[in-house]
Amino acid sequence: MAAETVQIHEHHPLDGLNTFGLPASARFFAAPDSEAGLQSLLASEMARDFPLMILGGGSNVILAGDFPGLVIQPAMKGIRCLEATAQDYLVEAAAGEVWHDFVQYALAQGWYGLENLSLIPGSVGASPIQNIGAYGVEITDFFDSLTAVEVASGKQREFTHAECRFAYRDSVFKQELADRYIITRVRFRLQRMPAVKIAYGDIQKELSERGIENPSPQQVADAVIAIRQRKLPSPADIGNAGSFFKNPVVSLEKCRQLQQQYPALVAYPQGADMKLAAGWLIDQAGWKGRRMGPVGSYEKQALVLVNHGGATGHDVLALAQAIQADVLQRFGVELEMEPRVYGVAN
Ligand code: FAD
Ligand code: EPU
Repeated sequence: MAAETVQIHEHHPLDGLNTFGLPASARFFAAPDSEAGLQSLLASEMARDFPLMILGGGSNVILAGDFPGLVIQPAMKGIRCLEATAQDYLVEAAAGEVWHDFVQYALAQGWYGLENLSLIPGSVGASPIQNIGAYGVEITDFFDSLTAVEVASGKQREFTHAECRFAYRDSVFKQELADRYIITRVRFRLQRMPAVKIAYGDIQKELSERGIENPSPQQVADAVIAIRQRKLPSPADIGNAGSFFKNPVVSLEKCRQLQQQYPALVAYPQGADMKLAAGWLIDQAGWKGRRMGPVGSYEKQALVLVNHGGATGHDVLALAQAIQADVLQRFGVELEMEPRVYGVAN
């Protein structure tokens, strides 16, 4: 079979390809729309001689400067049902599909389970990277398997659920396999019978206010969308990357010590440990709504850092470091960044 050629752009702007709206460009940029195209791209001299960055919707990256190599944005499209059983559907979505559109499409087909993950920005291909989660659901709950192409060999490989090693905002693709595989297709087992999850956060309250007692999955999705639109800034209006830090997990002992000093501390059990609300810590430290140059902590959600206009990666990282140092000093808790940083700040 003849190798597929993929167009490679030189000095390609990335400003519009990251939701923080940071200025950066790629030395080379390509958006293969098939696995064969991706494989021929990986076999090219450019892919072998230059550093690679895999970019989805750019909603969980901080571009700290220009990228000196090849940026590959998987652009494969397609959603199909591979198998229907009495209980569920095995559904496959290509990496370049927009996550929220996939969730909405699935609901319209009667494939249930992902409704609480509505409106999370980004691509299907990135969804396993940090095991995206919201409102009491993570993709690990419905994930079946995925197909990826190995960067070094161009070979296709399937990953089972266990091989992905999903955890809170984590997977094998953020650990030892980081940058080694490009995910091209993701498969989910979605339910035939709805089993809505409404216990988390404000969902129940939102549904009650709408006078809904026995919600359909679409009504749960609509409630989640409304809550998210109230709490989180839309990247279309103000640049951001969602939660900037992970919620830190601390020992029960450490949590109890903090609770003695701060009775209002927000903490949830996480196995034998406790997960603290980073937003609460940052808020208590006085950062909510505060600006540092062109960046700041969002006025309605302290955990979200925002670009008030004209920010560079340097500005974002300086603010992040100031918050990390302050929270460490006040509470003795380390905050780990959620987005991945690329390039060197200029
Ligand atoms: P990118 O930001 O482009 O990339 C993220 C990482 O994944 C990079 O390291 C990249 O190299 C890698 N990657 C991307 N695609 C592939 C691929 N095909 N193969 C291999 N590696 C790949 N996250 C949540 O979990 N829950 C939320 O509720 C949530 N809310 C958000 C709200 C807002 C307003 C924003 C801006 C972000 C939010 N996020 C949330 C973070 C973000 O939406 C997710 O992390 C999302 O999965 C990122 O997808 P992306 O396509 O934009 O990935
Ligand atoms: N809080 C404050 N002040 C703030 C912000 C939050 O006191 O400024 C308190 C809230 O009152 C609440 C607690 O902190 O008691 C948690 O806040 P919230 O419910 O807004 O959720 P979160 O823990 O900040 C997490 C995820 C989000 C996800 C929501 C809903 C992480 C790092 N963040 O946010 O994911 O959408 O729960 O499930 O786990 C993302 O990862 O980018 C993201 C947006």
